[in-house]
Amino acid sequence: MATRSLFLLPGDGIGPEAMAEVRKIIAHMNEKEAAGFSTDEGLVGGSAYDAHGQAISDADMDKAMAADAVLFGAVGGPKWDAVPYEVRPEAGLLRLRKDMELFANLRPAICYPALANSSSLKKDVIEGLDILIVRELTGGVYFGEPKEIIDLGNGQKRGIDTQVYDTYEIERISAVAFELARTRRNEVCSMEKRNVMKSGVLWNEVVTATHKARFSDVKLSHMLADAGGMQLVRWPKQFDVIVTDNLFGDMLSDIAAMLTGSLGMLPSASLGAPDAKTGKRKALYEPVHGSAPDIAGQGIANPIAMIASFAMCLRYSFNMVAEADRLEAAIATVLDKGLRTGDIMSDGCQKVSTAEMGDAILTAYAG
Ligand code: IPM
Ligand code: MG
Repeated sequence: MATRSLFLLPGDGIGPEAMAEVRKIIAHMNEKEAAGFSTDEGLVGGSAYDAHGQAISDADMDKAMAADAVLFGAVGGPKWDAVPYEVRPEAGLLRLRKDMELFANLRPAICYPALANSSSLKKDVIEGLDILIVRELTGGVYFGEPKEIIDLGNGQKRGIDTQVYDTYEIERISAVAFELARTRRNEVCSMEKRNVMKSGVLWNEVVTATHKARFSDVKLSHMLADAGGMQLVRWPKQFDVIVTDNLFGDMLSDIAAMLTGSLGMLPSASLGAPDAKTGKRKALYEPVHGSAPDIAGQGIANPIAMIASFAMCLRYSFNMVAEADRLEAAIATVLDKGLRTGDIMSDGCQKVSTAEMGDAILTAYAG
């Protein structure tokens, strides 16, 4: 049995608690299903800063680059609010994305039937929701240069970020969106701000040209990103796949997360290009929720987004489709039984801890 190498980066806040539940599933799969996972673990974010003054060490970066897949928890917290910008916890995550060239961020937002009442939106608006946000992850305003604060010398300073996209970056992310759409309802909506931004004009042009040249069987529409945010809360089921840039994708995916009942429900996969020799993609899987420092260490965090991220890992990095399906079904089963962590609690349900939720999902998975 080939070894499948996983590099775990639990990070800060609720990251380690959520990761502990995935570790149980990995152990089960190794013991009972001979899955052959090998795991190693490193530090990222504030915990890495505390240990060695960096948001991620070079040694851990090397391990991340070498692993078949990286599982990432969460980073950040008030404890590190005052650390220098270059070594702030988020810098660890951004370095992983950039150095591993994880340009394609897949953020599915699925409303589990049992949670249709937990969203702040009306049940008929979100019941049966199944959309996929494809966010560009290594370009745009997150990484564009110049990125600085300069002193204007007259008592004023100037903060500068640069939104920049090249043709190839837009081409490759839209190709991912079109390819995934073909496995779903075959519709892509591209979101930008071409009415204000030059990068938006180019984005629109390149998505349109890529569609025409290679994906004309897919239905393509365009929406201004602000209108897209509005439509996401008005009638989200009109969308299948949304493709958008790094910053708009960050915001729109938080909105999409709340449609599903809680930020604690949304998994994500960040993928690189297939390797020319092996065909394998570098990959990192992380819950969309942050480190939630307010509830960290209490054992009450929702581990579902982390577990669902591991299911995406099984699907996309190891082609273990049956196991991924079973794990996702196990999450739905446990929710159907009425088990809830605090963030998705509703009347008549049973409130459980992080570990109880993880154990119940594992039991349902093990069947
Ligand atoms: C996300 C997060 C990150 C981002 C932060 C932690 C840097 O909000 O993954 O959505 O802005 O991309
Ligand atoms: Mg975000």
